[in-house]
Amino acid sequence: PQNLRGRSFLTLLDFSPDEIRHLLRLAGSLKMAKTGGYEQQHLEGKNIALIFEKDSTRTRSGFEVAAYDQGAHVTYLGPSGSHIGHKETMKDTARVLGRFYDGIEYRGFGQRDAEVLAEFSGVPVFNGLTDDFHPTQILADLLTMREFTHKHLSDIAFCFMGDAGNNMGASLMIGGALIGMDVRLCGPKSCWPDADLVTQCRTIAETSGARITLTEKHAEGLEGADFVYTDVWVSMGEPDSVWEERIELLSPYQVTSEIMEKTGNHYAKFMHCLPAFHNRDTEVGEATFQKFGIDCMEVTEEVFESAASVVFDQAENRMHTIKAVLVATMGS
Ligand code: CP
Ligand code: NVA
Repeated sequence: PQNLRGRSFLTLLDFSPDEIRHLLRLAGSLKMAKTGGYEQQHLEGKNIALIFEKDSTRTRSGFEVAAYDQGAHVTYLGPSGSHIGHKETMKDTARVLGRFYDGIEYRGFGQRDAEVLAEFSGVPVFNGLTDDFHPTQILADLLTMREFTHKHLSDIAFCFMGDAGNNMGASLMIGGALIGMDVRLCGPKSCWPDADLVTQCRTIAETSGARITLTEKHAEGLEGADFVYTDVWVSMGEPDSVWEERIELLSPYQVTSEIMEKTGNHYAKFMHCLPAFHNRDTEVGEATFQKFGIDCMEVTEEVFESAASVVFDQAENRMHTIKAVLVATMGS
């Protein structure tokens, strides 16, 4: 049995393939227990700090509900209202919070900030998204993939379309490499992940049996894929000035019904970590769509609302997988 007690989760590279599989199994059983009404609490008396330097709906709610279900208490430290980042360094913050809390979730900009928190707090730190990585999201995605195919995870092919070098593309590549999946990242070369990270994942793939394909060609990315995944074209923290260039560069990689058909797989499912710009219903969306004269961005409304879309199952699984991380690292 895997023992993850006291461990931080800053990137998927912190865990071995067996440890990731263990977390997925635990998430599955915690989900069943909650649904079946027989969940047991393993985090009674624990306190968790939730630092958010960027906005969040799923991650914050996922951590809060997971903690409450398991008997723990949380403190939300939002983008304003604490001294973090302006009046007090991360190193000092870490040494303070480590005295109060049994675990710390961190969503922010720099991966280095998450590392400093882990190094100096002395308690497990969970990366709730940085500019570089979004590891807890990948656990939810893997659980969702397992639920929506009859295949073993290592037999699954998925294609991430669009801004493949963002925190999601990079994290999916790492997760797929560790688990031995057929990983395709399809988008303009200028958006591919960092070359050193690709090399590292290819090395992991040699032992895990993963296949890693980076391509600009639709057919190469999509053919035979079980899942087509996409994410926003401009991530939190990026300047507004990149919108125009990204829309121009990434429009050919918008997930449309034609793109879904290029998998040649009638059962292919659509995935998105959310939030998504699939129509004009959001304030940001409306302003941006008007400015650029388009109706949707990374995915069409048709695909987003289609029977192939499993995006809300993914969202639900955020909570179950985060709960697994908390129980495995902090549980008694
Ligand atoms: N997918 C995700 O992390 O969503 P939030 O930004 O709402 O947390
Ligand atoms: N790439 C997106 C993911 C949001 C969950 C961002 O960083 O904004």
